[in-house]
Amino acid sequence: MSIMKKALFTVIALSAMILPSCGESTEGSKEVSAAPVKKSAAVYFSRVGNTDFPSDTDAVSSASLNIVNGTLKGNAQLIAEWAADEAGCDVFEIAAEKSYPVDYDATVDQAKAEQGDNVRPSLKSSFKLDDCDTVWLSFPNWWADLPMPVYTFFDEYDLSGKNIFVFVTHEGSGFSSTVQKIRELEPDANVIEALAVRGGSVPDKEQEIRDYIKQQLN
Ligand SMILES: Cc1cc2nc3c(=O)[nH]c(=O)nc-3n(C[C@H](O)[C@H](O)[C@H](O)COP(=O)(O)O)c2cc1C
Repeated sequence: MSIMKKALFTVIALSAMILPSCGESTEGSKEVSAAPVKKSAAVYFSRVGNTDFPSDTDAVSSASLNIVNGTLKGNAQLIAEWAADEAGCDVFEIAAEKSYPVDYDATVDQAKAEQGDNVRPSLKSSFKLDDCDTVWLSFPNWWADLPMPVYTFFDEYDLSGKNIFVFVTHEGSGFSSTVQKIRELEPDANVIEALAVRGGSVPDKEQEIRDYIKQQLN
């Protein structure tokens, strides 16, 4: 990431930190309790699955990417996969029809433009959520907001009556106003602010994240 963009995210992050729900560490509020979780599905958006990275891309030179058993994985993707593993449920990816640029800064610029134009990128993925009572939803904070393909997902799927556990990965901004936005988009769902985790800390927080999910299953 260029110094300019890093500085910009720092400003976004600092302004986010004056809000009570945001901070450095893994955090989440449990003020809204979930209805019992019986059948769930994990749904995620990550930059990795939405970008045609060359096969020789490595996690070291590409900030915020992980290689697990030789496969490139996004931060939000890891969380969704752990949720699916703990809950024994399916995992679905929110994948836009048109990939984002491989270049990080170009993606950052495109995401900003999409947000400014309030676009709804078409999705190539479909989801089987009808008989689920709970969705484990994870995505990265993009410009203090949801990535626009996640808005498309909410336009296309009505999650009324379901628990939505929201997991956000970020570089300092925490949840920003994402949970609030999801409550507006899904007024009849039970939207729970689950965990906000710094992208680079996701692999280290695996046990903490799994424990949080296990607690919700009891
Ligand atoms: C387009 C774009 C915009 C971003 N905007 C923010 C932001 O506003 N605040 C922040 O803390 N991090 C921001 N980030 C950093 C990501 O939220 C972070 O790297 C996240 O862990 C990536 O998750 P993923 O691997 O699942 O895509 C941004 C990243 C991208 C690519």
